[in-house]
Amino acid sequence: MTTAQDKVTVPGLAAMKAAGRRIVCLTAYDAAFARVLAAAGVDVVLVGDSLGMVLLGFETTIPVTLEHMVHHAAAVSRAAGRMLRVVDMPFLAHADVATAVAAARRLMQEGGAEMVKLEGGSELVPIVEHLAALGVPVCGHLGLQPQSVHRIGGYRVQARDPEAGAKLLADARALEAAGAGLLVLECVPRRLAAEVTAALHIPVIGIGAGPDVDGQVLVLHDLLGITPPPHPRFVRDFLRGRGSVQDAVVAYVEAVRGGTYPAEGEWYA
Ligand code: KIV
Repeated sequence: MTTAQDKVTVPGLAAMKAAGRRIVCLTAYDAAFARVLAAAGVDVVLVGDSLGMVLLGFETTIPVTLEHMVHHAAAVSRAAGRMLRVVDMPFLAHADVATAVAAARRLMQEGGAEMVKLEGGSELVPIVEHLAALGVPVCGHLGLQPQSVHRIGGYRVQARDPEAGAKLLADARALEAAGAGLLVLECVPRRLAAEVTAALHIPVIGIGAGPDVDGQVLVLHDLLGITPPPHPRFVRDFLRGRGSVQDAVVAYVEAVRGGTYPAEGEWYA
């Protein structure tokens, strides 16, 4: 049974950062897997729009709709236990303030979201400010932003040159100042992720961002080795050599908490 003390909250994540305790995050898209994650001790469950590619067979996350997100978020919420429930805003659901407010209302009221995640940088400041002022917890998402795949021309490491790195750091500071309570950093060089993490008071969760962040997130089906290759270098198959999905997720939780994931070769220089 989840008690009030166990429940992972946004202030609780900030306290984990302050105490140097690593945050464990993983995606889930349905109640069955959410239950496995909760039993394994995962802190944050992300209902990512990656569900479009992982579950629904789309080539990108762009076709994912608000209906899809509400449907899957509600299923996860029913079984999430103590985990903080973070749900992605799908493509263009935060194109302007009014659209973002309407989408956040549905994700929270119907989907059970406790925080919404938005891809984008300082151009989102008015939207993040507005949502935060209305009491909607917001998670930023910088680095590789899969909803921008057609603009950037593929899924690759971001912000490798100093100008792009400086812009990403400025975007991160702007999102924090606007009221974001958490930041996901995807596919950026290790040293940049370390710099951003040290510069922010809010926790930074990395995916392909190296070990010097406040926590890690992976796509569940990558961790289970059931997404088709090629895989980016930060993907580790935790099911290999283990007898069950539950054991694989527990191994991931222990590896993140113990600092053995990611290891050398699982990040970008
Ligand atoms: O949609 C998703 O699963 C994500 C993670 C890759 C961070 O945004």
